[in-house]
Amino acid sequence: MTATIRELSIADYDDLIGLWEEAGLPFRPRGRDRRQAIARQMEGGTAIFLGAEQDGELVGAVLGTHDGRKGWINRLAVHPAYRRRGIGRALVGAVEERLHGMGIEIIAALVEDWNEDSMAFFARLGYVAHRDIVYFSRRRSPDT
Ligand SMILES: CC(C)(COP(=O)(O)OP(=O)(O)OC[C@H]1O[C@@H](n2cnc3c(N)ncnc32)[C@H](O)[C@@H]1OP(=O)(O)O)[C@@H](O)C(=O)NCCC(=O)NCCS
Repeated sequence: MTATIRELSIADYDDLIGLWEEAGLPFRPRGRDRRQAIARQMEGGTAIFLGAEQDGELVGAVLGTHDGRKGWINRLAVHPAYRRRGIGRALVGAVEERLHGMGIEIIAALVEDWNEDSMAFFARLGYVAHRDIVYFSRRRSPDT
């Protein structure tokens, strides 16, 4: 793994969106992933935005969050041309290390059931799938 991991700032927003698009990651450009919402999350103290850089490009990124009780891996993406080189593992490891440092002892990820790559990835990293859990949410708008 020759990529460098660093914290992202709002100046990286356009590159981040470009990466999510290249990676085929579903995201919410008019909702919680709009520039203003990401800026607010970055300033809020409960989010960890990390990027992996290689060849002068943002080739991977992850958003770690916590609610004081659990940590969450969100929006993990690696550019297709840079996959299977350990970048995803390194990004998750870096988020885990920071969350552990904040006293968070359980880290979880929500993965859509069609996303075989992501499920294989998390299983490989030792995450346990809970197929008996159903995700409920209430949204203030469909774009959220
Ligand atoms: C999931 C994703 C982030 C993995 O990134 P990556 O950089 O290729 O992963 P790594 O190279 O660090 O792989 C870590 C381990 O998982 C395994 N792995 C990764 N992708 C895999 C796949 N598609 N099938 C099986 N195993 C896989 C690797 O072999 C590796 O195991 P090893 O270290 O024991 O050899 C990447 O495929 C991606 O961006 N997918 C699209 C976006 C997405 O679905 N994100 C997750 C949303 S929940």
